[in-house]
Amino acid sequence: MISPETRVQIRRYYYAEHWKVGTIASELGVHPDAVRNAIESNRFATARPLRDSILDPAAQVAAGYQPIMPSFAGLVSEEQILDLIAYIESLADREVRAP
Ligand code: HEM
Repeated sequence: MISPETRVQIRRYYYAEHWKVGTIASELGVHPDAVRNAIESNRFATARPLRDSILDPAAQVAAGYQPIMPSFAGLVSEEQILDLIAYIESLADREVRAP
């Protein structure tokens, strides 16, 4: 699995500098599939920011769910929020890699 830093670098080359997948793969010494995965595993980026979903869950409720989630505002520190977001995003990566 590639590091979060490499993932960020891949996304920068691809989306900001418009490099091709193969060019990024050879520049960073990673497999082209890893590059594609880093580009595609963006499931949460277009969704509501995870931070809002944790701090103010009732503001927008995911389709098919009841608004039973309590707000965690004031209960978790900024560092804990970042940890939670990183963890949830790591689950998205894993799902994209699954066969
Ligand atoms: C630290 C603990 C928790 C975290 C980090 C967390 C995170 C999240 C996130 C990010 C979403 C949005 C998902 C999406 O938009 O696709 C969500 C939705 C939801 N959560 Fe939590 N959650 C936590 C605790 C809880 C608890 C304790 C409950 C219930 C007792 C709960 C019930 C729900 C439900 C029903 C939804 C879907 C409806 C909605 O969008 O509000 N969650 N949660």
